[in-house]
Amino acid sequence: MIIRPFENDDRQTVIKLWRRCGLVVPWNDPEADIDRKLRVDPELFVVGIAGSRLVATAMGGYDGHRGSLYYLAVDAEQQGRGYGRKIADYIADLLEHRGCPKLNIMVRSSNTRMIDFYQRLGFKTDEVVCLGKRLIEDE
Ligand SMILES: CC(C)(COP(=O)(O)OP(=O)(O)OC[C@H]1O[C@@H](n2cnc3c(N)ncnc32)[C@H](O)[C@@H]1OP(=O)(O)O)[C@@H](O)C(=O)NCCC(=O)NCCS
Repeated sequence: MIIRPFENDDRQTVIKLWRRCGLVVPWNDPEADIDRKLRVDPELFVVGIAGSRLVATAMGGYDGHRGSLYYLAVDAEQQGRGYGRKIADYIADLLEHRGCPKLNIMVRSSNTRMIDFYQRLGFKTDEVVCLGKRLIEDE
């Protein structure tokens, strides 16, 4: 799998992949999420290409204190081939090169599969409560 930055032509393929992976929730508009990411550190939004097909995505971020990783997805028929680990490690390397000391990941507590996956990649559960306040309501 080759990893490269997201390009605008990838947009509909990426959104379809996110829908198939169950990553699109009613309170997040994927189009708006992509538009926002293209305005802030777009090079941290990457896709994985196997053959000629877009099969994976990951959206990283760094705020000067902590790094983040969202929208990690691998197409169902391409799972179990190391692509999830590869694209997550790729984002971690980009963040480390920027001097980011720690990567935090938010996973819905009901998504036990994803929690197990990240633990396999060496992430530990932090004893913190994640608080959120919506500033912009998506359509
Ligand atoms: C979770 C997901 C990204 C894993 O991708 P993948 O390409 O199948 O994972 P990999 O093949 O790279 O697996 C990497 C390692 O994690 C392990 N692993 C994968 N899925 C696992 C799971 N559900 N539980 C425990 N370990 C898991 C693999 O055995 C492998 O271990 P190893 O490298 O030590 O041998 C993929 O299944 C997915 O896209 N799921 C749906 C999307 C989703 O829910 N995203 C959450 C957004 S917050």
